[in-house]
Amino acid sequence: TTYNVGYIIGSLAKNSINRKLAKALIQVAPEKLKFHEIPIRDLPLYSYDYDADFPAVAKDFKAGIKGSDAVLIVTPEYNRSVPGGLKNAIDWASRPYGHNVFANKPTAVIGTSPGAIGTAVGQQALRPILGFLNAPQMNAVEAYIQFKPDLIGDDGAVSSPETEAFLRKYMESFHAFIAHVLTVLPRDA
Ligand code: FNR
Repeated sequence: TTYNVGYIIGSLAKNSINRKLAKALIQVAPEKLKFHEIPIRDLPLYSYDYDADFPAVAKDFKAGIKGSDAVLIVTPEYNRSVPGGLKNAIDWASRPYGHNVFANKPTAVIGTSPGAIGTAVGQQALRPILGFLNAPQMNAVEAYIQFKPDLIGDDGAVSSPETEAFLRKYMESFHAFIAHVLTVLPRDA
């Protein structure tokens, strides 16, 4: 079976190192995983005033998640937590009440930062949010990638064989996790 994976980049920066990491992950992923980005950049700041009539950009964003077999979140850590833009996007995905598109959606979280902690704290802040939204999460492999200059090229090529092998293992685990979750919770159930 082929799975269609939507990925969300938690950074809006042009030269985002997390966007580079996403490219690397796509390159080493099993062939059965197909990827498309679910962009968050143009979402307005959420308010429940929108619940009666979501703007097209928010409808598209939610449809992107709903139409994916699984969602991969590749995100920096901002101030020891989730970047505001990403949290805003997740808030959109969760509303209106009763129309949370993360429910039963297989997810995985990964990130990179220049610091040694490699987004560990940011990822740990994201997990309870996904948990509250009832999204099954891959618990292991965990991946906290410390970004060194030239670790990942603009084309997604990884300069360190060890890191590349680790990212490959991460994506193989995600593939297995998606297959497992969708066996228990088929998508249109
Ligand atoms: C950061 N950075 C950062 N790094 C980290 O490891 N822990 C943190 O808490 C923070 N906090 C933080 C807040 C804000 C507002 C910014 C802009 C940056 C540094 C961060 O890891 C670095 O800028 C990365 O390049 C961010 O990833 P992207 O945006 O390049 O993918």
